Amino acid sequence: MSADTLAIYPGSFDPLTNGHVDIIERGARLFDRIVVAILLNVEKAPLFTVAERVEIAREVFADNPKVEVDTFDGLLVEYARRKHAGVIVRGLRAISDFEYEMQMALMNRHLNPNVETVFMMPAEPYTYVSSRLVKEVAALGGSVTNLVPRLVEERLREKKHGRQTLRA
Ligand code: PNS
Repeated sequence: MSADTLAIYPGSFDPLTNGHVDIIERGARLFDRIVVAILLNVEKAPLFTVAERVEIAREVFADNPKVEVDTFDGLLVEYARRKHAGVIVRGLRAISDFEYEMQMALMNRHLNPNVETVFMMPAEPYTYVSSRLVKEVAALGGSVTNLVPRLVEERLREKKHGRQTLRA
């Protein structure tokens, strides 16, 4: 019997979208376990803190025992090595994602040939959904219903409300 296949799904998840959720669910069906690995990136100015992003992902996947939520720092392949993960999962929405994703996959392979990157396509309704656009639309008062989990929608509303109160 081969050992369990652990996959890592790395990203910023600022915030988690339904496109991410779709890929995580696909990964959970394909692999024995999948770790949603949130990058601890101090250089970016995120909307949600890492603690908030971890809490959201844990809550969204509370009923799925195959999904774990964790944070990581430094090289992804080193994190994969520490976790004994054989697979990195990335979502591909469009051709425009491809170049950057291929560079990352090949760089990661160069750094650690034992970790395989597996690309998965999200369901069609999510092919145009990105965290960046979701944040922009929500900040400008547009609807992000069905594009993000309900919890994320609530949190986006709270952030917008908090900002408006601060400005008032
Ligand atoms: O959600 P994102 O921003 O597209 O995720 C990018 C991520 C976290 C997968 C990438 O930035 C990453 O792996 N960072 C860790 C540092 C690292 O290993 N860099 C070399 C990758 S080729």
